Amino acid sequence: MTLHGLAEMTLGVPNVDATKQFYREFGLAESTDGVFASADGGDQLRVVDTPYRRLVQFAVAADDHDDVDRIRRAASDRDIAVIDHDDGSISMLEPIVGISAKVTVRPRIVQAEPYSWRAMNSPGNPARSGTRAPAIFNEGPARPRKLGHVLYTTPDFEASMQFLTDVLGFKVSDTSAGIIAFLRCSTDHHNVGLINAPVPFFHHSSWQVNDVDEIGQGAQTLLAVDPSRDIWGLGRHFLGSNLFWYFRDPAGNFAEYYADLDQIPEDAEWDARDWAPDKALYAWGPPVPKAFVHPADVEEIAAALQGVS
Ligand SMILES: [Fe+2]
Repeated sequence: MTLHGLAEMTLGVPNVDATKQFYREFGLAESTDGVFASADGGDQLRVVDTPYRRLVQFAVAADDHDDVDRIRRAASDRDIAVIDHDDGSISMLEPIVGISAKVTVRPRIVQAEPYSWRAMNSPGNPARSGTRAPAIFNEGPARPRKLGHVLYTTPDFEASMQFLTDVLGFKVSDTSAGIIAFLRCSTDHHNVGLINAPVPFFHHSSWQVNDVDEIGQGAQTLLAVDPSRDIWGLGRHFLGSNLFWYFRDPAGNFAEYYADLDQIPEDAEWDARDWAPDKALYAWGPPVPKAFVHPADVEEIAAALQGVS
């Protein structure tokens, strides 16, 4: 595989200032106005002004220009218009939901191990004997390490999946009953998720943190400002296995902290499976709130889409 993850995303919202403040409190660092960096991935989020909330663009990172050329050819073979940019990147519109998909050459993100994963006492393994847990000294917001995935809905599930696999070169990791599909362009279990739904809207972005403590730390910071940001968590997903907690930004998009996501190296014998609907969302956690599967503003977005079509 020659793609190696998400490079960045552009989020369009009607309330830019409030949304930027949310992502500062989420723990991203604002490098220039409206551009936010993760700790390891550099600039990965742009917040721009749009009439209604939407994912304007996601960018996948490629190793070299041969990869970009391969995707350009795959798009051209399917009569998808490709825009060439001065920096050698290309972009094209996802044919169903109209999100811009960009392919850009980037160095692979190199990540240092956090202290935490091997410093947890467990039965038969007192890995942290004689010392307090470092996590009790954590302060302030979470510091997301990188952008992990984006998830959006599509009214043509198969065609949107084919765009990711046949044009961009993603692999399917797991699906559930025609409801949800998770695809990867790296060793992460998923970098893009699709939900089958009549109205296309952006569901969430997901940001990697070190561990469950940092998920809790981030949640505490965000909810101290506004408890109504809490959408769903703490829990563990079934597909991808990751720990999760979701929050709503002021525009209505969800932002997730995740940790401990399944990893699928190129040579792994991974069986992409289609799971029963009861496995689609989670292994454990609070009951799934209605707002998670049907955000309050979906009708508003549907009306806005009618207006532009
Ligand atoms: Fe997610």
